[in-house]
Amino acid sequence: MAKNLLYLSKASFLLLIQLLAIQSGSFTNAKRIPEFPKSLKDVEESQKGQRVQGLREVKHYLNKYGYLNYEDSNNFEQDEFDEALKVAIKTYQTFFHLKATGKLDTDTIKQMSMPRCGVADIINGSLTHPQFTFIPGEPKWPHYKHHLQYAIISSAIPNVNLTEVKKAVKYAFGEWAYFSDFSFEFTDYVGHADLILGFHRGDHGDGKAFDGPGGALAHAFPPTNGRLHFDADEIWSDSSYRIRSNQVDLVGISMHEIGHLLGLDHSRDELAIMYPGIAKGQIKRSLSLDDRDGLLTLYGS
Ligand SMILES: *[C@@H]1O[C@H](CO)[C@@H](O)[C@H](O)[C@H]1NC(C)=O
Ligand SMILES: *[C@@H]1O[C@H](CO)[C@@H](O)[C@H](O)[C@H]1NC(C)=O
Ligand SMILES: [Zn+2]
Ligand SMILES: [Zn+2]
Repeated sequence: MAKNLLYLSKASFLLLIQLLAIQSGSFTNAKRIPEFPKSLKDVEESQKGQRVQGLREVKHYLNKYGYLNYEDSNNFEQDEFDEALKVAIKTYQTFFHLKATGKLDTDTIKQMSMPRCGVADIINGSLTHPQFTFIPGEPKWPHYKHHLQYAIISSAIPNVNLTEVKKAVKYAFGEWAYFSDFSFEFTDYVGHADLILGFHRGDHGDGKAFDGPGGALAHAFPPTNGRLHFDADEIWSDSSYRIRSNQVDLVGISMHEIGHLLGLDHSRDELAIMYPGIAKGQIKRSLSLDDRDGLLTLYGS
């Protein structure tokens, strides 16, 4: 059946996914979180000193990704463009190599509208390395634990079947294994697994709720936690090189999230797998020099 999906019209394709989701009983989340970028048009071109409806959502977005914090959390519920917001936007712009205007200009809005990894870019407001970064405290796998077993356990059914998911993540693990002394092996026994991958939808119990289609695509926890979650509300590609303009690349995003599992944080290098943003329809499936440098620096030769 999955093969025939390719030949269906877009509308029936989406309907089918919904039907599959309803069948799985996981489409019952009545309250859906709207896709963040919808309200962005209203705040475009706003700047310090203004009050524009929708700015509070920008504040929540910047807070979620590590750029903004207020001592008084009431500020998050106000549409005031204040100094703290300006500073946060400047840091955000610096991270993404945009002009640091401190305004919500078009390029910044475009960047914020792009699907991305759900893990924060910076913690405690500092950009410690020029390109690749480590998770604060530099957690990593101990040297005697470089053979890692992974299991796949989902609470929601995505648009790709388990066979395809296994193929995609096997490829992704293989790329990291090739450039490191890590090895990875699939296991059916959760009790044996060091890493647990799976698809989830909305609030799934780890305090990092997914946001529906677009926005955050996936997230993973640092060593030695081992959890990697994909947002089941995205339209995922399969493991082949055919990717449609509305799909997100399961292989590439798996590679990115595996980087987090191994202890890497986001890179500002757009070519790096550890760069946090990825457009729909974009394929990026090779580790850059920056990714390899990051891992080498963290683990030694
Ligand atoms: C899984 O999906 C692939 C590609 O879409 C398809 O070739 C395969 O037959 C599917 N497998 C099952 C068990 O449905
Ligand atoms: C951030 O800074 C606070 C206060 O300086 C500190 O308690 C906290 O551990 C830091 N968080 C991380 C993740 O480094
Ligand atoms: Zn990430
Ligand atoms: Zn999660």
